[in-house]
Amino acid sequence: MPLMTTEGGVLAARRTAELGDRVRVCGLYDALGAPVYHDLATYDDPETRALLTAVRTTPGPLLDLAAGSGRFTLPLLATGREVTALDLSTDMLALLRTQLDRAPASMRARCTVVRGDMSRFDLGRSFPHILLGTTSLSLLDEDGRAGLYRSVLAHLADGGRFLLTVLERGDDDGPDETVVRATGSGGTVYELYEHWPAGADSRTVTLFPADPPQDDSPVTVCTDRVAVLDLPRLEEELAASGLTVTSRRLLSPPDERHRVTLLTTEASR
Ligand SMILES: C[S@@+](CC[C@H](N)C(=O)[O-])C[C@H]1O[C@@H](n2cnc3c(N)ncnc32)[C@H](O)[C@@H]1O
Repeated sequence: MPLMTTEGGVLAARRTAELGDRVRVCGLYDALGAPVYHDLATYDDPETRALLTAVRTTPGPLLDLAAGSGRFTLPLLATGREVTALDLSTDMLALLRTQLDRAPASMRARCTVVRGDMSRFDLGRSFPHILLGTTSLSLLDEDGRAGLYRSVLAHLADGGRFLLTVLERGDDDGPDETVVRATGSGGTVYELYEHWPAGADSRTVTLFPADPPQDDSPVTVCTDRVAVLDLPRLEEELAASGLTVTSRRLLSPPDERHRVTLLTTEASR
C-alpha cells in the first residue's frame, strides 16, 4: 500500500495506518478520484478570473488543455466563447459532459470535448488562445513538456498566446507537511494532506474524507505525486522550445505557501 511509506508524508501515512484495511487508494483523476476532485473544484477564484480576463482581449475559439471537469471551460462558455476542452481522463471528461448536459443548449453547442494527451495532440485547427491552468504543467515530465510545447506551437494562430500557471513554494520556513480541511460543493468535508519539503522536486497531495463512517466500510483515499518546477528554469525551457514569455502575473499573496504565477507566452519570432 503506497501510502504506508512516508513519501506522501508522515501524517498521511499515520492517517492511512489508522484506517487500515478500509483504505482504497486511487488517483486524483480516475473513476474514484474524479468525483472527489470535482467536488472540491472552485469556480470563483483568482486563477479563473485572471484567465477569463486575459482571453477577453482577443475574440475567437479557445483551447482549454487538461480541462478536467470544466473549471475553466464552463465559465468561458458562459461568456459566449467557443471552447475545445481536452483531457486525458475519461472520468474527468464524463463529469464535464454531465455538466454540459445540464447547461443551456446554446452553451453546449459551443463546446468540443476531446479525449487526448496534452503532450501530443493534433486537432487540425488553430486558436488565438491556448490555456493550461491549475498548474497542470507539473503533471508532465521533461519529454512530455517538450511534446506539449511542440503541440501548442502547431495550434497557435498568428500572434496567438499560450497562457499557463505555475506553482512554486512561496514560504521558505513553512512545514514539510500540512493538513487543511476543505468542504466540497456536495457538503463532504475532506482533509487535504500535502507533503512538500522546501526545495523538493515533487510534492504529494493526499485527500481523505474527514469524517468517514464509524464502521468497516471502504474509505476512498486519493493521492497524487506531481513535479515542482522552478520558474526561471521553466522560462529557459519555454524559450528553448520557441515560446517567449511576454508577461508574468502573481495570482497569490507573495508569501503564501502556494505561490501561483500566470505566464503569458507567444511563439518566438
Ligand atoms: C489539476 S487537474 C485540472 C483540471 C481542471 N483544469 C481544473 O482546474 O479543475 C489536471 C487535469 O489534467 C489531466 N491530465 C493529466 N495528464 C494529462 C495529459 N497528459 N493530457 C491531458 N490531460 C491530462 C487530468 O486528467 C486532470 O483532469
